[in-house]
Amino acid sequence: MNKINIAIDGYSSCGKSTIAKALASELGYTYIDTGAMYRSVALFALRNGLIQNGKINTEAIIMALPDIKVTFKYNNETKISDTYLNGENVEKAIRQMEVSEVVSKISAIKEVREKMVALQKEMGKSKGVVMDGRDIGTNVFPDAELKIFMTADMDVRVARRYYELTSKGEHVTEEEVKENLSKRDYDDINRKENPLRKADDAIVLDNSELTKQQQLDFVTRLIKDLQLIKEEEQTQKKSLNVSVLSNLNF
Ligand code: DC
Repeated sequence: MNKINIAIDGYSSCGKSTIAKALASELGYTYIDTGAMYRSVALFALRNGLIQNGKINTEAIIMALPDIKVTFKYNNETKISDTYLNGENVEKAIRQMEVSEVVSKISAIKEVREKMVALQKEMGKSKGVVMDGRDIGTNVFPDAELKIFMTADMDVRVARRYYELTSKGEHVTEEEVKENLSKRDYDDINRKENPLRKADDAIVLDNSELTKQQQLDFVTRLIKDLQLIKEEEQTQKKSLNVSVLSNLNF
């Protein structure tokens, strides 16, 4: 089958990246974590004093955009791409709570989104991309062949995120994690620029009670169905061409 683009959107900490990474590796596709791009801009702003005491200097961030270069480089050990900010591997730094606390506000800045979305569209031009985020199916790849909208119960999401952070040595409480997720969801749904929405043609995947393998099986099944539909369409087109030719052959 020709390569396709797969868009995975959904709420914070729904396991989008887990399933996107697994899918990309199974299909031999490129995985792109768009949240990491907004996180990198947030990290740059924090490091350069463009956010102070939680107050975001939007003008200064817009002015600094030409100095912010976010790239991805394939890591042979982990078999996925790491995020680089101006040449520095920031994969760990961008996952810290300090960044999570400001990133939704940073991602709501129109000029920031315009720059990131342009890069994301470019990355998907040759197809074969699994991209996760909030506006992939609605805005970045509105023509993606497969769109998944992921969701899960808040308690399940909190438990997963809490485990992820504490196992990396971060000191957070479950209440703090819950507050952060709720706030980010609110900001992502209610922002003016490309808010989080389910695309009309996206398929909902609620993974509250599903294992990683079950989710992967579900999406793999969808891709196979898509393949069958495409093959059927091509067969129909061919037979249409044959009947047109035989009608002309009088
Ligand atoms: O997926 P994540 O939690 O790492 O994303 C971090 C933030 O970036 C999230 O709170 C919303 C924002 N984001 C966005 O606005 N659009 C995207 N395509 C991806 C992420």
